[in-house]
Amino acid sequence: MTKHIKFIKPALAGIAVSVLALSATAQAQTLQVKQWVASCAACHGTDGYSEGGMASLAGQKKSDLIEKMNDYKSGKRVATIMHQLAKGYTDEQIEQIAAYYAALPHQKPAAKPAK
Ligand code: HEC
Repeated sequence: MTKHIKFIKPALAGIAVSVLALSATAQAQTLQVKQWVASCAACHGTDGYSEGGMASLAGQKKSDLIEKMNDYKSGKRVATIMHQLAKGYTDEQIEQIAAYYAALPHQKPAAKPAK
């Protein structure tokens, strides 16, 4: 019986370590995406909530965003600047950026009233 316990302990420790490693990877990915979308903020607003005449990206459908970016890349969609910017991102990066914006509500959440 004790033989078995001796064996199980290190196995459990191994599982715990790999779970930790996995969540660290997920966190690093989120940080990476935040860095990418930060470069869109200059023109499209923080988190894609446009303050001016620019299109808001927040809350758009993921598939629409991917299609638009790919159409900019291919030149199918006429642009003044996006055709150049879109070429700087791989398909995987575009997918992650699109997923980030698609997960946000379309309307910017109202600021909490000051107390
Ligand atoms: C220098 C300013 C600038 C930056 C930075 C920028 N964009 Fe744009 N974006 C534009 C302009 C301008 C348009 C309108 C098309 C054009 O003329 O290029 C546009 C259009 C778009 C559209 C189409 C919007 C719609 O719904 O019609 C998408 C999607 C988009 N941008 C995504 C992005 C993403 C993602 C990033 C960051 C990786 C980004 N943009 C960074 C200026 C910018």
